[in-house]
Amino acid sequence: MEKYLINPNEKIAKINKDIYGNFSEHLGRCVYEGLYVGEDSKIPNKNGMRCDVVEALKEMGLPVLRWPGGCFADEYHWKDGIGDKSKRKKMINTHWGGVVEDNSFGTNEFFELCEQLGCDAYVNGNVGSGTVQEMSEWVEYMTFDGVSPMAELRKSNGREKPFDLTYFGVGNESWGCGGNMHPEYYADLYRRYNTYCRDYMGNKHIKRIACGPNAKDYNWTKKVMEKVGGQADGISLHYYTLPTGDWGHKGSATEFDKDEYNSTISRAYFMKELVENHLAVMQSVNPHCHTKLIIDEWGTWYDVEPGTNPGFLYQQNTMRDAIVAGLTLNIFNKHADRIMMANIAQTVNVLQSVILTDGEKMVKTPTYYVFKMYKEHQENTLVGSYITTEKIHSKNDNGNFPQLVESASVDENGVIYSTVTNTSSTKSAKIKCQIADTKVESITAEIITGECHEKNDFDCEENVNIKEFTGFRKLKDGFVADIPACSVVKFVINK
Ligand code: AHR
Repeated sequence: MEKYLINPNEKIAKINKDIYGNFSEHLGRCVYEGLYVGEDSKIPNKNGMRCDVVEALKEMGLPVLRWPGGCFADEYHWKDGIGDKSKRKKMINTHWGGVVEDNSFGTNEFFELCEQLGCDAYVNGNVGSGTVQEMSEWVEYMTFDGVSPMAELRKSNGREKPFDLTYFGVGNESWGCGGNMHPEYYADLYRRYNTYCRDYMGNKHIKRIACGPNAKDYNWTKKVMEKVGGQADGISLHYYTLPTGDWGHKGSATEFDKDEYNSTISRAYFMKELVENHLAVMQSVNPHCHTKLIIDEWGTWYDVEPGTNPGFLYQQNTMRDAIVAGLTLNIFNKHADRIMMANIAQTVNVLQSVILTDGEKMVKTPTYYVFKMYKEHQENTLVGSYITTEKIHSKNDNGNFPQLVESASVDENGVIYSTVTNTSSTKSAKIKCQIADTKVESITAEIITGECHEKNDFDCEENVNIKEFTGFRKLKDGFVADIPACSVVKFVINK
């Protein structure tokens, strides 16, 4: 029997809702087809945005959306994507499949989407191939409420009032597809570009995000933090989980054996070490710095589904992905004091999507249901939680990983939410939970579970879903539970 302690008296930090964010790039069928089908489509839409997808994302509690890239951001010229759609420039999306980008989804459409979703906007600017003036004018176009050339341009495109911009990224992966820069050079560019991204929204400061490291490139974090320091509100880490760790042969999304399952989970759990090490570097450079960590690209990355365009990064999603999502979101929750935002890659039809579409059909993936299950953590207070657990062996370099990964939070009414992920594909786990200084009145629980290959598809949309969980017994000050193998469970505890 594993011991689980929740201490509601140990209030650690508010869990920023934006930890539950998504990322949407002009890549494959994410923006086009996935989110936006155009006003003339037969697929039901509002101003071009797919109604079914918007509804599903609202139900999931999507708090913030990052756009337009990714690598695409550093070759995106925002003026190509405004005004009369029939006159917008067409370009080749050289990063992703070499397809024609007709720019019919641009700045106004992105904010229309965010407004329909009721979520915050995170726009990523172009440092790699764009100018300081171009970036400065984009911010002016989006946010200036007064008389100015860019505000007039916005008004001439039918939008009188400014858009509500919450986050602005200054470049993306500047160490790679965003310009192949050295950290010192990027940091200088960050300072320069950021200077001209003005705050036009009165009391609302646009939170600036500096390009952070690729996985364990601690030197990048150190150098950028040394130079950029307090001039950035966040620095963004990118880390993807590849089952094999090999970009040439990443592994299939649906066909994997136990070793590959364990290797995937072990590599996903590596996120904890990455987060803690990068935070330690940031702290060592400047202990009083307000800059927070962002993880604006994370998730599983497999070989594309057979027969699909290799540049579109379309992959299926199984219970294995649900486990990756469950454990990763618990890791983010547990570092809520220093993590401001995270954005899974990507929302629809690309990498670890929450939604897949095929024409007018739509499927919610196992990952979707984890986000939906966890949404009550958003804006709650993270409280202390501790669990004993067995370790599971993985043959890869990252070694063992824990069978149980948890986090707990409390809402403003004192209701406690605990999410527990059982990462084992075969073994259940008995736990005894004690909640400090608490007389438990009632408990309800939900579960997402299944054999690790189970998935939702266009002919079995609800195979994996959130179900009621009854495998627990309430105690005076906690509960005992038997957590099935390969499952994500949420307990809602009323006192
Ligand atoms: O999410 C796919 C790609 O992965 C993004 O465009 C890029 O930033 C990262 O390398």
